[in-house]
Amino acid sequence: MSVVPQHIAIIMDGNGRWAKQKGILRARGHEEGGRSVQRALDLCLEHGVKWLTLYAFSTENWGRSTLEVNALMHLLDKYLKERTPEMMQKNVRLHAIGELHMLPEHCRKQLNASMEATKDNDGLNLVLALSYGSRQEITAAVRSLAEQVQAGTLQPQDITPETIGAHLYTAGMPDPDLLIRTSGEMRISNYLLWQISYAELYVTDVLWPDFGRKEFEAALAEFAKRERRYGKR
Ligand code: FPP
Repeated sequence: MSVVPQHIAIIMDGNGRWAKQKGILRARGHEEGGRSVQRALDLCLEHGVKWLTLYAFSTENWGRSTLEVNALMHLLDKYLKERTPEMMQKNVRLHAIGELHMLPEHCRKQLNASMEATKDNDGLNLVLALSYGSRQEITAAVRSLAEQVQAGTLQPQDITPETIGAHLYTAGMPDPDLLIRTSGEMRISNYLLWQISYAELYVTDVLWPDFGRKEFEAALAEFAKRERRYGKR
């Protein structure tokens, strides 16, 4: 069994605290977080990780100030515009999960353009979770299955974990092997609840803008030490 995780999911927390420590605007913390995104992507490429799923904007994040939401949306748009040529060069395919219709039109357009441009790349898969909430995702899947049962096209006894998985935003993607959370909080925060059932969890106190090679390789080393039994002996 390979000791390098095939799929890493990250809760990128701590941009705000990083900015506060430096006495600068939260938006600047997010900007610096964008640079960590690029570092993490390059490290995944270097180590042969095939999937990287980043919690870039949660359903709950809509509750932040308009100023901060706008700054994050602007940053996303800018990141995609600037980095899509590099994704092409590095053979990265971009995916997005979440209630994407909630995003402002300029972001949706850019996101679709970047996903379309990279769709034939088969190196690393970068998945951005945007306006994403796991409970919302599971609710939408259950609703869709209930509609099929009501229409008579699906029997309740035919609903299996696989059927449910196939109705999530992540249909067709492998489950994360390793979940990293920065900034020390011991929480999952409505992230990939179904998909991380057997993921190894790794929490570091390092704030996301400071997350780099040292922390990434420490997480890989810790993962390599874990014995994954999937509930078996
Ligand atoms: C959590 O930090 C982080 C976010 C809510 C947004 C994550 C976004 C980025 C890393 C920006 C770049 C992303 C892309 C894809 C370009 P926080 O603000 O909750 O930090 P705090 O808990 O310290 O306040």
